[in-house]
Amino acid sequence: MSTPVRVTVTGAAGQIGYALLFRIASGQMFGPDTPVRLQLLEITPALEAVEGVAMELEDGAFPLLAGIDISDDAEKAFDGANVGCLVGAKPRGPGMERADLLKDNGKIFTGQGRAIAASAASDIKIAVVGNPANTNALIAASNADGVPTDRFTAMVRLDENRAKSQLAKKAGEPVSAVTNLAVWGNHSPTMVPDFDNAQITGRPVTEVITDKDWLEGEFLTTVQQRGKAIIDARGSSSAASAASALVDHVANWCGGRPTPDGDWVSMAVPSDGSYGVPEGLISGFPVTTDGQGGYEIVQGLELSEFTQNKLQGTIDELQQEKSAVEDML
Ligand code: NAD
Ligand code: LMR
Repeated sequence: MSTPVRVTVTGAAGQIGYALLFRIASGQMFGPDTPVRLQLLEITPALEAVEGVAMELEDGAFPLLAGIDISDDAEKAFDGANVGCLVGAKPRGPGMERADLLKDNGKIFTGQGRAIAASAASDIKIAVVGNPANTNALIAASNADGVPTDRFTAMVRLDENRAKSQLAKKAGEPVSAVTNLAVWGNHSPTMVPDFDNAQITGRPVTEVITDKDWLEGEFLTTVQQRGKAIIDARGSSSAASAASALVDHVANWCGGRPTPDGDWVSMAVPSDGSYGVPEGLISGFPVTTDGQGGYEIVQGLELSEFTQNKLQGTIDELQQEKSAVEDML
């Protein structure tokens, strides 16, 4: 058995935490040969609840679970961490947009960014889930002096998975037939699921689904508004599907499950200026990953005028969010 991967999960007593921790402990994030040590961060009032989750993790008798630490101190929770899943943050309720959470949640990520710089392992890799995820990741990166910015990512994988399911259903194909699905921009209603470059059974989506009005209309809005639809139906925001998408995100990035040849996955990563997304924003891009911590933004994709206009809209929103938190950067 190799040395355990140390994984910090924030918000471990929350809804997503409850769906996520058992997936990590069972080996689905880092593979069947890699033990994991879970380092759980919660706010003080939730420590008792997280103790209960830890008891259940013990009761799962997971062969790969090498230990569990619990803390309400971010520096302790990130001590020696190789991977950080930054989930802990307030979810939105009915009638709110994710950006409405910025003032409450943003400050969580200043402190956690500093804690990551102070105590995480030198190979730390961060995936932010807490909303608004892109801008929270930017706040954490800006406060983590000395940690390379490209280690900070935010999750748009749930949006990719949602888009794939909608396309598969419309085409009457299994979801595994849908590949090369990029989600550009912000994890918000302005996100851009890219049907120009996606494929179904190796053919362009636009050849398989010829109903352009559906692609530009119902498909786009269903994916963009799926988080709201779930809140309206469930009374609380998506949890198990979010945890599942996070398993996919981390497994592809650094859990030994590289992107298959010819395909790509969606991650929100610091822009290097590709596709006109200004440097200094953390935006959804198509990336290839090596499963060992490396990723590269896919270059050379052609965007239609429709997609290009939508991309500009989501860039504008990311810039507005960035301006709103300038004092935290
Ligand atoms: P939840 O309220 O069930 O759990 C959040 C947990 O975070 C709580 O236990 C809370 O005590 C904890 N917490 C709050 N502040 C903390 C801090 N400073 N340090 C550590 N823990 C802290 O919420 P949830 O349903 O698990 O959702 C968590 C976040 O994920 C929300 O912001 C939600 O909007 C977001 N989310 C994002 C996506 C995505 O695709 N990016 C998907 C679903 C949910
Ligand atoms: C989602 O997309 O399900 C999450 O971001 C939760 C939300 O507020 O929509």
